Amino acid sequence: MITITDDNFSSLNEFLDRKSFSKIFILVDENTHEYCLPVLLGNMETDLAFEILEIEAGEEMKNIQTANQLWEILTEMQADRKALVINLGGGVITDMGGFVASTYKRGIQFINIPTTLLSMCDAAIGGKTGIDLMHYKNMVGTFTFPEHIFVYPEFLETLPFKELRSGFAEMLKHGLIADKIHWEHLIRMQKLDAQAIIPHIKTSMDIKQDVVRQDFHEKNIRKTLNFGHTIGHAVESLYLNQKNPVLHGEAVAMGMITEAYLSFAEGLISAEDCDLIIGNIQKYYPYLDISDFSDDDIFDLLLNDKKNAGNTILFSLLSGIGACIFDHECSRKSISESLTFYRKLNDA
Ligand SMILES: NC(=O)c1ccc[n+]([C@@H]2O[C@H](COP(=O)([O-])OP(=O)(O)OC[C@H]3O[C@@H](n4cnc5c(N)ncnc54)[C@H](O)[C@@H]3O)[C@@H](O)[C@H]2O)c1
Repeated sequence: MITITDDNFSSLNEFLDRKSFSKIFILVDENTHEYCLPVLLGNMETDLAFEILEIEAGEEMKNIQTANQLWEILTEMQADRKALVINLGGGVITDMGGFVASTYKRGIQFINIPTTLLSMCDAAIGGKTGIDLMHYKNMVGTFTFPEHIFVYPEFLETLPFKELRSGFAEMLKHGLIADKIHWEHLIRMQKLDAQAIIPHIKTSMDIKQDVVRQDFHEKNIRKTLNFGHTIGHAVESLYLNQKNPVLHGEAVAMGMITEAYLSFAEGLISAEDCDLIIGNIQKYYPYLDISDFSDDDIFDLLLNDKKNAGNTILFSLLSGIGACIFDHECSRKSISESLTFYRKLNDA
């Protein structure tokens, strides 16, 4: 259940009142501790005891070592099965906190309060939790819905522009795979800032929720949400080992360009639609340098993608603006062509 809250968290307070939790553990990173926790604590009204669990910010923290530390802290603080974890943060916090809560003592309750655009529109609301393993993204995790998701769009006001733009990539994806009108609203926006984006968040959340409702365990239609994420995730994974990590949405933007090109090359969309999509993505996202990675580096990761079976590489591709197909097999040759196409954009 999702509540978009512009009511100073009265819905959260009602939720805390209604349930009988033993104790609350609020998971934050250093930034959400500084910017979001004061807002939450200033509005949260409960007699329950709470503890703050803080981790460093960043994707590098989304690993088994951090999960282990959190399980140990919960144990030391005697969190029992009636404890509640509140994940206050972006996708790293909601993925990590959801994973830790859904596995600790075989599962304790948690709620998500997303504080980035990406987590509001995507990471916090689909019931997927997880951590990275080696340099593979989200390799270990669970499908577990939070008890509730409270979305407070005002948190976006302190979010750095690059992070806002990262989340915006998922909104563009929602338009591209399912709702042409949403896509058109987004590409017509004069300025990319929180105030312009906030009115469109609900549409993106509705698209994602609708897909998840139809196919929670990603057996079919949920795979359409992976548009842009097959090549995008591979590049994001390769960047995990670099000094300057890429943001999720920046990698997804690159993935959407190459996968829009693949959609065209596979005869699924017209050249006009392909140009329109790529041109609009380029309008928002600078070229992502992939010169350190060979096609083979990318193939190795594609073959390990959770969506694939055996040696085939399956994609979710566009069949129009606002329409998407899934489980479409692409050859190495056509994937290479899409990467060559992308590299040439840097010369243009
Ligand atoms: N579970 C899913 O379905 C799903 C879907 C998409 C992405 N993800 C995951 O989400 C993660 C990316 O999420 P993200 O982009 O939110 O990253 P993030 O959680 O790292 O947050 C981005 C940065 O913004 C800071 N921040 C968060 N809220 C803030 C605020 N209100 N004001 C100021 N700073 C703030 C954070 O401290 C961090 O430095 C990736 O790990 C990705 O794999 C998961």
